[in-house]
Amino acid sequence: MRIAFPAFRDATPHVLVVLAGPDGAMTPGAAAADAASGGQVARALKTGRFEGDAAAVVEILGPHGIDAARLLIIGMGQAEKATAAVFEKIGATIAARFQSCGESRVTVDMTGVTGALPLAGAAAHLAHGASLRSYRFDKYRTTMKPKAKPTLTDFDIIGAPDAAAYHEQLAAIAAGVVRTRDLVSEPANVIYPESFVESAQSLLGLGIELTVLGEPEMRALGMGALLGVSQGSVRPPRLMAMRWNGTGDPQAKPVVFVGKGVTFDTGGISIKPAAGMEDMKWDMGGAGAVTGAMHALAARKARAHVIGVVGLVENMPDGNAQRPGDVVTSMNGQTIEVINTDAEGRLVLCDAIWWAQEQYNPEVIVDLATLTGAIIVSLGHEHAGLFCNDNGLAAQLLKAGDACGEKLWRMPIGDAYDKLIDSPIADIKNVGPREGGSITAAQFIKRFVKPGVKWAHLDIAGTVWSNKDGTLFAKGATGYGVRLLDRFIAENFEG
Ligand code: BES
Ligand code: MN
Ligand code: ZN
Repeated sequence: MRIAFPAFRDATPHVLVVLAGPDGAMTPGAAAADAASGGQVARALKTGRFEGDAAAVVEILGPHGIDAARLLIIGMGQAEKATAAVFEKIGATIAARFQSCGESRVTVDMTGVTGALPLAGAAAHLAHGASLRSYRFDKYRTTMKPKAKPTLTDFDIIGAPDAAAYHEQLAAIAAGVVRTRDLVSEPANVIYPESFVESAQSLLGLGIELTVLGEPEMRALGMGALLGVSQGSVRPPRLMAMRWNGTGDPQAKPVVFVGKGVTFDTGGISIKPAAGMEDMKWDMGGAGAVTGAMHALAARKARAHVIGVVGLVENMPDGNAQRPGDVVTSMNGQTIEVINTDAEGRLVLCDAIWWAQEQYNPEVIVDLATLTGAIIVSLGHEHAGLFCNDNGLAAQLLKAGDACGEKLWRMPIGDAYDKLIDSPIADIKNVGPREGGSITAAQFIKRFVKPGVKWAHLDIAGTVWSNKDGTLFAKGATGYGVRLLDRFIAENFEG
């Protein structure tokens, strides 16, 4: 979908959208449409019992006196409460409604819209919402009915020509979200460690530096935990680092993001039940989010030094697969008793996180992982779980999440939980008891964080995929994490 901020309306018949507030408060665009149609807008609002709530709609088909096939009046709520999130929701509602309506062009008239945001920001966020909500993953659907196919190609906003530059920044973020959604949506026969790395080559054009380790290099470094997960698969593993330094200072201390990239999780020998196993194609959602965030940061030339590290493996049962009870040695020398081969994400993360610390000496690490089913039992699909060893870092992440709508909820960690993963025969075991499963998973990772490093772990198992439409996404891959990480960097590391 092309987004533009032209000065005037295009002449071709299309969908015209105008905004209105509570108590019959019409924006200038709505008032103009009302005048041109001989009062049809006011009558429709009354008949439709329109109260001006944010994103409430009244639609007029074939409006009188207006050169448009459809006229939509959409609510913006009280002007002073119309934040970026409200305008994103409005844009998303418009895009979802008209994506397959038969028209190719939507024009939103924002002339004279006033609210909590300057008009340029309001218009840019409205466009951003439309862009995020219009994502689809249709590439494998060859027999879609014509009526179901998207027709909307052009999304114009008039009355806010200054929004174009502002929107460019948001478009960079949206491109990162699209990258993540594509990676998460692709099946595991298409995205596996090697092809994931292959797809990341296009980040080079944005100025990102890539480092890729193969199996022999990881073996030489002693990454026995990550390699133990991978050994049952015919797909060779990869560790990839993506570096973006927009500070101009090569010595700047980096922030490191680490993503779990299990491109398919069968559970291994501790195999999962068949029902729903197809969902485990998105067990690389952490790696997907980190990769999309790196794309966003580089595309908008963020003035920060950020490194994204992804541990890419496939977890398969096989004659060569690791067994429950096996003891592996991680890169930092800790021995791990593998009680359950389905608790593989932490085995991948521990080596990826240790390598990242050795390589980059960061002050801050944030890892993202579809780590436990237990976090879905705790938090459902509304919040991701946040585990953190530093209150300041936790506050920064919670704030960024609230601001962009990718919400987090803080969970506890502590010594009493840590004890639960002591092993009788090794330094640590990879599962604790059933109770508190997300917390013991976090404790496991914490044992691989160096003293003094501020670390947060985001368990995103409940938020990377949605079985129903959301405000800014259609059902499927949500792209969760990209806007959160981008915002976290923007608010705390670009000063
Ligand atoms: N990838 C799964 C977690 C998961 C489950 C994500 C459902 C999304 C939806 C992870 O590797 C896993 O299998 N975790 C186990 C841990 C258990 C064996 C301690 C789980 O949650 O059951
Ligand atoms: Mn698993
Ligand atoms: Zn997994």
